[in-house]
Amino acid sequence: MGKSTQIRTAAETLESLGVDFVVTREPGGTPMAEAIRELLLAPRDEPVNDLTELLLMFAARAQHLYTYILPALERGQWVLCDRFTDATFAYQGGGRGVPRERIELLESFVQGEIRPDHIILLDAPVEIGMSRARQRGELDRFEQEAISFFQRIRDTYLERADGDSRYSIVDASASLGQVSARVKNLMCKFHADLL
Ligand code: TMP
Repeated sequence: MGKSTQIRTAAETLESLGVDFVVTREPGGTPMAEAIRELLLAPRDEPVNDLTELLLMFAARAQHLYTYILPALERGQWVLCDRFTDATFAYQGGGRGVPRERIELLESFVQGEIRPDHIILLDAPVEIGMSRARQRGELDRFEQEAISFFQRIRDTYLERADGDSRYSIVDASASLGQVSARVKNLMCKFHADLL
């Protein structure tokens, strides 16, 4: 999907605009949350219960949010995060089939009123995303899932984006240069809207 490249593009754009920011990711972003990420991504023989997976995602998020993201926001920094709770709705909700209401309950419980201001969705047909993951090498526990799992995830992301003005959908099947140009434009727009 070129996700890492586009996070870099977004960061470089903010730098050129003189914005004070941090870059982070989920699951992860602090030493403890990164340890939870390893637990979640490692392929294993033991079947992983959907609820275990969901709660670990939110356990990592609580640690990340309260010890890293909120202090950064309080210092006045922007937080550029590679995935957040929308990934939970897409993967654990759409992908695994956990009812949306349960995820909403945890979202309110863990985050209170805290939500992202902007969400950039890098969207591409699932075959493209899957073949790019295979090219990167060893597949993690999520990447080993069947195509139907990723189709449900994509559908959920697109449903969530529909009618939510915080979302910007970027066609990630376009050339890297085109995708970067779009991401750069969006970051400039988010910045300009604040002035
Ligand atoms: P990535 O950092 O390579 O995107 O890998 C993170 C994986 O974790 C990815 O497969 C998506 C998955 N994930 C969830 O299933 N739920 C979540 O809430 C988050 C943040 C990620």
